[in-house]
Amino acid sequence: MEKTIDESKQGEHLILEQKDGNTRKLFIESYGCAMNFSDSEIVASILSEQGFNTTQSLEDADLVLVNTCSIRDKAEQTVRKRLEKYNAVKRINPKMKVGVLGCMAERLKTKFLEEEKIVDLVVGPDAYKDLPNLLAEVDEGRDAINVILSKEETYGDIAPVRLNTNGVTAFVSITRGCDNMCTFCVVPFTRGRERSRDPQSIIEEVNDLWSKGYKEMTLLGQNVDSYLWYGGGLKKDFVKASDMQKATAVNFAQLLELCAKAQPKMRIRFSTSNPQDLTLDVIETMAKFDNICKHIHLPVQSGSNRILKEMNRLHTREEYFELIDNIRRILPNCAISQDLIAGFPTETEQDHQDTLSLMDYVKYNFGYMFTYSERPGTMAERKMEDDIPEETKKRRLAEIVQRQREHSEIRTKEYLNTVVEVLVERESKKSDQQWSGRTSQNIVAVFPKEHYNIGDLVKMQVTDCTSATLIGEAIAYSMEN
Ligand code: SAH
Ligand code: F3S
Repeated sequence: MEKTIDESKQGEHLILEQKDGNTRKLFIESYGCAMNFSDSEIVASILSEQGFNTTQSLEDADLVLVNTCSIRDKAEQTVRKRLEKYNAVKRINPKMKVGVLGCMAERLKTKFLEEEKIVDLVVGPDAYKDLPNLLAEVDEGRDAINVILSKEETYGDIAPVRLNTNGVTAFVSITRGCDNMCTFCVVPFTRGRERSRDPQSIIEEVNDLWSKGYKEMTLLGQNVDSYLWYGGGLKKDFVKASDMQKATAVNFAQLLELCAKAQPKMRIRFSTSNPQDLTLDVIETMAKFDNICKHIHLPVQSGSNRILKEMNRLHTREEYFELIDNIRRILPNCAISQDLIAGFPTETEQDHQDTLSLMDYVKYNFGYMFTYSERPGTMAERKMEDDIPEETKKRRLAEIVQRQREHSEIRTKEYLNTVVEVLVERESKKSDQQWSGRTSQNIVAVFPKEHYNIGDLVKMQVTDCTSATLIGEAIAYSMEN
């Protein structure tokens, strides 16, 4: 069940509940990580107060916003191509305004206005509350930009408008930014310092989701396990917090427990875990609550100690194995997935073999695999030469993907002739007679529809599988329904 992310397949535009009295039309689309999709829901909420309803038709739009990703060069190229498309539409509809949001906005700043004549508005990930002011400037015919990063902004006080939703699963963002400074990664530069959101506002959002019929939510952060609330501000300032603030502080394991108890029937997922920050407390909390899904996305990036060090990943291969052993001991039915990078600078064949042997040890259920893409401004770009030839990177990636395919197949076969619990999310892409959902382990499962509906939690007998999908028949509603 390997997944190489194809950024060009993203960009689904979002549909917003139409608010009476709103006359302007917003076309908004998102690329990149789940956080961007979640941020677009915040942006849509802010703009719905400014007279905008969303439209699915680019040609009809008064305002086009694209929420962008900088993680790899390919992601940026995809957005550049979209801007060409907007340009063609603007020739027919010259009054249409175009804004760039997200990580590319933050990385390129005013360069965007210089390089892409079509762009009227550039807004970084921490500046969305300034959109009303920026739009007023655009309406008066001036270009507008705000790319100021914040130490506090978490948008905890904005109720996101759920967009393009199946009504069953939702994202809830809990931290923003990242302090880890992995040497290959642009995120700390585009999303700023790490900060956590008030747990009270998180629980309120969870309760609200449940009351609206949602059955599963994913707590989101670049590094969720470093969540720490002590009254606001940067995590590094926690040392200066008062004794009272420290006594009432909430860490990620505690937040998980609060969420699990607030809505005991709601499925809870979280993403992403950085190995150096995932604590035993979190694993034990997962074991304590049935409604916390048994899946950990645990990016490792490389299996070589030397490369891990060059990447500034603050753990060794051996420490990672220890963590895996602990997960297997405490959560024997937990799925584990990875992110891996092939061809980081100086990576030797031996380093690559170390990655393959690490994969053999873990036998991940699935993963997201990439070739190294040098990002401007990162430590790796400044200090190291991007010295692995493209064809070597591609060959190593193909070997990693092939190995993952073998492991995924072994893993899905383990479920044959067992009963799994599936939350129905949508019609199967392959057949309108089948439902598609996911198991607690985040494995896709399909079965004939019969009398079941979207949003049902169903017990399914697994009769067949591919490397990515469990195939079966529903037996009954789950008792947890
Ligand atoms: N903690 C984040 C990670 C963000 S980036 C999260 O919430 O998912 C997602 C993945 O992209 C990383 O784990 C890494 O495998 C990959 N990635 C990041 N920078 C990259 C680069 N410069 N080249 C190739 N892959 C990269
Ligand atoms: Fe990037 Fe490392 Fe943070 S991959 S998002 S700097 S944990």
